[in-house]
Amino acid sequence: MIVIPGTASQVLAKEVADELNAELAGVTCRVFPDGELYLRIEGEVAGEECVVVQSTPRPQNRNIFELLTLLETLREGGAESITAVVPYFAYARQDRSFARGEAVTSRVLAKHISLHADRFVGINLHKSAILDYFTIEAEEIDASPELGEYFRSRGVKDCVVISPDKGALAMASQVASCLGCEHDYLEKTRLGPGEVVVKPKNLNVQGMNAIIVDDIIDSGGSMVEAIRMLRAQGAANIYVACIHAVATGSAIARLFAAGAKEVVGTNTIASQVSFISVAPRIAQALR
Ligand code: R5P
Repeated sequence: MIVIPGTASQVLAKEVADELNAELAGVTCRVFPDGELYLRIEGEVAGEECVVVQSTPRPQNRNIFELLTLLETLREGGAESITAVVPYFAYARQDRSFARGEAVTSRVLAKHISLHADRFVGINLHKSAILDYFTIEAEEIDASPELGEYFRSRGVKDCVVISPDKGALAMASQVASCLGCEHDYLEKTRLGPGEVVVKPKNLNVQGMNAIIVDDIIDSGGSMVEAIRMLRAQGAANIYVACIHAVATGSAIARLFAAGAKEVVGTNTIASQVSFISVAPRIAQALR
């Protein structure tokens, strides 16, 4: 097996290759003065099982184009099989048309990956229904047990796990079951990008270590509202955890300013808080 690293996932691709004892391909990636990309996969790929690891965070469209180009290059190079591992799948929040005529950009991406790969592996896709947009074998890894394991290994006790909205309730349940504790959720309404309100709710968090979990931290707005509510209800310490640390602008600083003791995410996106590796789970899916 050969692992081909995209520029957005260079360290994660190396970790996956190490886990699998697989070869890590060299890739040359340059940007021409006008912004166009030059890509070259070094070495022979004909007849090989190839795995591209490329996340698609900001700049999304550039990372997506690089992903599709790597896949197409492997196909043209005669690879025996091609798996696209996309740890953070861009446009997942546009999983359907919310208004007439709106493009379903997650479907566009899924269809294009399906054109060039034989198999897709994603991680906490925001909406699992996105898997149906693929016309190839498509699989989603749930990395929430990794979040639970992170806090368990650090000996965080007397805790309760909270999701900032109902959408992340299943994640909260997974994390709580790793920690053997209770979980609950908040009711969030989104007013606009980066702007949310959380409905008041009594939670049993007095004197407890509260762990708030979500699939994505983007502007940090959802987490800030959840932190405020937990602080007001007497939580002793507030930990914030996510799978995908999109962390736009000063999102992480906002969370600390709101009172988070710690902010942690996985390395689906290489960020300042990406302390949890999903490489073992990806390797497990590829074996
Ligand atoms: C939305 O439903 C997602 O699960 C996240 O809650 C959301 O993307 C977080 O965004 P922000 O950090 O901007 O509140």
